Amino acid sequence: MRRTLRFLLPLIGGLALLAVIGYVILTRTTAQWFEKDLELRSQLAVESARTSLERHWTEAGELELILGDITRDERIMGTAACAGDALVAATPAFPGSVTCAYIDAQLAVAASWTGTADLATGAVRVIARRIVDHDNKHLGALVLVHDVSFLARREATTRNFLLAAFFILALSAAVVTLLAARFAWRGWTRELRRALSGDAADPADDFRPLVSDVRTLVERLVGEREEGVRAGPWGPERLRTTLTEHLNGERIVILANREPYIHERDTDGKVVVLHPASGLVTALEPVMRACSGVWVAHGSGGADRDVVDDRSRIRVPPGEESYRLRRVWLTEREENGYYYGFSNEGLWPLCHVAHTRPLFRTEDWAEYVRVNQRFADAVCEEVDTDDPVILVQDYHFALAPKMIRAALPRATIITFWHIPWPNAERFGICPWREELLAGLLGSSIVGFHTQQHCNNFIDSVDAFMESRIDRETTAIVQGRHRTLVRPYPISIEWPLSKLDDVPATEDCRTAVRRELDLPADALLGVGIDRLDYTKGIEERLRAVDDLLGRYPEFRGRFTFAQLAAPSRTKIERYRDLNERIETLAAEINARWSSGTYRPIALLRAHHEPATVYRYYRAAELCYVSSLHDGMNLVAKEFVAARDDEQGVLVLSQFTGAARDLSEALIVNPYDLTQATDALAVALRMAPREQRERMRSMRRLIAEFNVYRWAGRMLVDAAGLRRRERLHGRFAAMRANA
Ligand code: F6P
Repeated sequence: MRRTLRFLLPLIGGLALLAVIGYVILTRTTAQWFEKDLELRSQLAVESARTSLERHWTEAGELELILGDITRDERIMGTAACAGDALVAATPAFPGSVTCAYIDAQLAVAASWTGTADLATGAVRVIARRIVDHDNKHLGALVLVHDVSFLARREATTRNFLLAAFFILALSAAVVTLLAARFAWRGWTRELRRALSGDAADPADDFRPLVSDVRTLVERLVGEREEGVRAGPWGPERLRTTLTEHLNGERIVILANREPYIHERDTDGKVVVLHPASGLVTALEPVMRACSGVWVAHGSGGADRDVVDDRSRIRVPPGEESYRLRRVWLTEREENGYYYGFSNEGLWPLCHVAHTRPLFRTEDWAEYVRVNQRFADAVCEEVDTDDPVILVQDYHFALAPKMIRAALPRATIITFWHIPWPNAERFGICPWREELLAGLLGSSIVGFHTQQHCNNFIDSVDAFMESRIDRETTAIVQGRHRTLVRPYPISIEWPLSKLDDVPATEDCRTAVRRELDLPADALLGVGIDRLDYTKGIEERLRAVDDLLGRYPEFRGRFTFAQLAAPSRTKIERYRDLNERIETLAAEINARWSSGTYRPIALLRAHHEPATVYRYYRAAELCYVSSLHDGMNLVAKEFVAARDDEQGVLVLSQFTGAARDLSEALIVNPYDLTQATDALAVALRMAPREQRERMRSMRRLIAEFNVYRWAGRMLVDAAGLRRRERLHGRFAAMRANA
């Protein structure tokens, strides 16, 4: 009703305005017509009586008769003949208030005059004309008085007519609008319902954009409700609640090559626990502690077998034991082919634009297939329902999703690819591209850090697979199976529990400077990486070299500590990189050393988190110079460690993190001059600006932490499960019908 009124009121207003304008124009025009009419009638009366008037002007009796004839015209009330200011003759109804003296005065300047006089009975129109004879002798004036009261009557009639017309029109418009609105609304609602319910195979053209908008809105609302991404912080508790609410508290099974805890023996033969240098572990371990369940991984530690039970299981974290680690043992041949070979000499360089050629060997592929099956079997042994939630991690397990689905068709499999996904052309060089895609499409959801990587994946599927791509929901459909493709930018735990045991910033500054044999006021930069050619460590060291060359103020004052964890050292390229970096660091040190001063401190070893966080806290800057990186969690860890809100992050534009941490100094690591200048800017940056940048980045990581990352994936998975169950029920109903 309100909607109809909203339409109706302006319509009635418009009609009223039209009526007023019509009224003004009509009264004005008719008044002009009547005036003209009176003029013409007077003129006619005078002209037709002119000869008689001339002839009998001086004969009062005759003159009265002529004047009487003129007043036969119904509009003429009375007539009079004046000679100068004296009345010669007049008809009986001629008003006495119109005097010859007044008329004479008006005709002193013109041959005729028209005016209005107000009588007790109403207004009259007075028309006076001079009368001259044939010899042009002025005889006097003829005065006609017209009754114009009919003009007011006509005006009133017009007004009434227009008012009535307006009311009838307004009423008709209201009725027609109401009826039309009611019928149109019914039809519109019916059509919309059909279109939204999917009954209308092809919704009418007019509805198509609307239907699409409504669908999008509904999907978004449903998504938001499902996601539970309500305002407020995400933490372990909320993630647990999300799991309980959305997935009935089902246990999660994580499949990842790297294990979260590695057992080794120290030089005394004592078993020690190591935390691997792995972004994947950094992100997923807090999630697992929050959710509990099973983590299936390669048992790679020297003492790993010594601590597990007879089913290769152990409860972790040590001392807390909130979830289970299931270790899978690999032979050397399997590890060489699956991990070093196909994963790290094939897929790793294929996916990273770091200008290192991938190596694809048939025997590596065979091991990759075999080991994926072994891990898939281990996962299936660890589940306790036929529709478990399984999180498959990274490029080591592209085939596992399809293998798991073959054994557990009702499983919800979320695969997260932690590294970039190349464009289709680049991906197409892999001899087993179809097999890799088919394996991944066994997942319910495939996640990447960025939308760009999602797009690249979808393009690859489009180029090499038989499937339908639903671009509206970014899903890939193969028969009745649907795989969603979604960006989930990964993050870290917030607040970082590992910081609990790390000393305060000032203490870290002092301790680290003492360890590195640096003066208390030395400026310190830090880089923390696995020794990997994608990390741009050579570019980073060259930037330090260039800084000392172009900014002499930092010579003898600035030291860059590179903590480098040896990684994949069985691979020749990694060994080469090791040597190159060592040589480069030595060259730079030789160039700029003086006394005890060394510009580069290359600390090549595995460093436990406590050490890493001490260095983050001690440094003036952290330089992350990756040539290509899915996310890079070192950048986020550095920010998380700096609760003093000081320190500057210099960050490569080729990391996923650069999309989130825009207050870092973003650089192209290949552009040496730019990177060097950024280091100088960082070292000179005022504490206030450091605080502003750091505060803003900390706020972002606090909000978008790893619990939220996991929560979003789990809620998406829950939504998918619900939909699949509903579709299953519906299909069963139809089959039984
Ligand atoms: O960066 C990709 C990645 O798989 C990370 O997820 C992980 O932190 C890192 O590589 C570790 O590699 P690896 O397990 O081979 O030491």
